[in-house]
Amino acid sequence: MRVAARQKVQYVCQNCGAVSPRWQGRCDDCGEWNSLVEESGSGGIGAGPKRSPGKGRIITLEGLAGSTAEAPRTRTGIAEFDRVTGGGFVRGSALLVGGDPGIGKSTLLLQAAAALGRSGHPVVYVSGEEAVAQIRMRAERLGVADAPVKLAAETSVENILATLSEEAPPALLIADSIQTMWTDAVDSAPGSVTQVRASSQALIRYAKQSGTAVVFVGHVTKDGQIAGPRVVEHMVDGVLYFEGEGGHHFRILRAVKNRFGPTDEIGVFEMGGGGLREVSNPSELFLGERNARTPGAAVFAGMEGTRPVLVEIQALVAPTTLGTPRRAVIGWDQNRLAMILAVLEAHCRVRLGDCDVYLNVAGGLRISEPAADLAVAAALVSSRLNAPLPSDCAYFGEVSLSGAVRPVAHAPARLKEAGKLGFGAAVLPSAAKGDRADSDMRLKEVGQLVELVAEVAARRGEPSVPAPSGD
Ligand code: TYD
Ligand code: MG
Repeated sequence: MRVAARQKVQYVCQNCGAVSPRWQGRCDDCGEWNSLVEESGSGGIGAGPKRSPGKGRIITLEGLAGSTAEAPRTRTGIAEFDRVTGGGFVRGSALLVGGDPGIGKSTLLLQAAAALGRSGHPVVYVSGEEAVAQIRMRAERLGVADAPVKLAAETSVENILATLSEEAPPALLIADSIQTMWTDAVDSAPGSVTQVRASSQALIRYAKQSGTAVVFVGHVTKDGQIAGPRVVEHMVDGVLYFEGEGGHHFRILRAVKNRFGPTDEIGVFEMGGGGLREVSNPSELFLGERNARTPGAAVFAGMEGTRPVLVEIQALVAPTTLGTPRRAVIGWDQNRLAMILAVLEAHCRVRLGDCDVYLNVAGGLRISEPAADLAVAAALVSSRLNAPLPSDCAYFGEVSLSGAVRPVAHAPARLKEAGKLGFGAAVLPSAAKGDRADSDMRLKEVGQLVELVAEVAARRGEPSVPAPSGD
């Protein structure tokens, strides 16, 4: 039998941060196997510095109204980066940048650091993963070796803070990565939930006191979450994900949390030999080399934040030999596809139950807008009926379960972008007048999905799969 230890021991899930008094093979909270690790209780959730009660200091309670200036920001000058942060780094704020290994987080932050340094802001870049020589080599490759950025290869939070207290606080401090940082204040291993939390806390406290903007790099687990406790995501002011599809050379920076700006903006970059290059017109990239004559391709006029982005949606509908047909999606929501398939089948009499369906958003972009429904339906029907869609036509609109096509926001911006890229026509929801840009495009308004299906069917060539029987 175990003798009760003097120091309280607890088991913390390294996946979700849940605390359990006993070791278990599986975390009760998140269901992850083998994720519980013994940690001493001293640094647990909510464990602040020990004080005897009744010794608190009187704080001033304030009203909601009051004159507070706009959060002071430091722009990097990298427009795609500043767009995602909402206009630059906010003084005294903490930002977490997550992403798969090798996606380019360190590269992005080194470029941002160099840009800030060059515009006269003091920047400190602390790496717990690479040696100074390695960072220098990368800077050389990026052509930023001359930028005034102060480097250190260090993992001890105490050492970092002691060093920073020696001089005026920098405008930006980068900690790459937060999982490698550790503090004496708690005695668990670096990378454990308790360490990550305590180290972030210490650095965030420094940020708040000094006005320095702190950026943490965070590792991502297999299933795409920032490793370590979700609590770090709650502690910081903003969480950015840097993502890219394997095999594609462009990268998307996306805000999933931002206390000082919007969360629906994306920044688009292209990774090349000289580092990350900004892509200010993503539509051209995502439309890529389009082959207009193939059935199953439809161009979606989408919005990413305030910016319209045109992207090709590709569908392949092929007869199946499997008992349960396959439905595979890349870049879109599986459930949403199931819904569109059901609506096509139920309301438009397009038979899909005996076909495999593959759907791909070209270029590796991930779309979450329901406005893509109409373009997805167009691509599916086009492939099913073997009827190529007009090559100069863009689609947008939300499809409801009843088969109605519902209006979506920002129609004028979508049309304008399509027109700018040479599209002469658009299929869109019939909506209130006045929502139309004064465009000279041919606009086809559809109120029901079945109208779109009829139009595609009219363009049908020689079907490669049996056409719907229409029974
Ligand atoms: P890195 O920034 O180290 O990724 P992370 O910090 O997210 O792990 O990026 C490493 C990858 O980027 C590596 O596979 C090489 C590639 N890369 C380029 O293609 N061009 C460049 O100029 C640089 C610096 C990196
Ligand atoms: Mg790195």
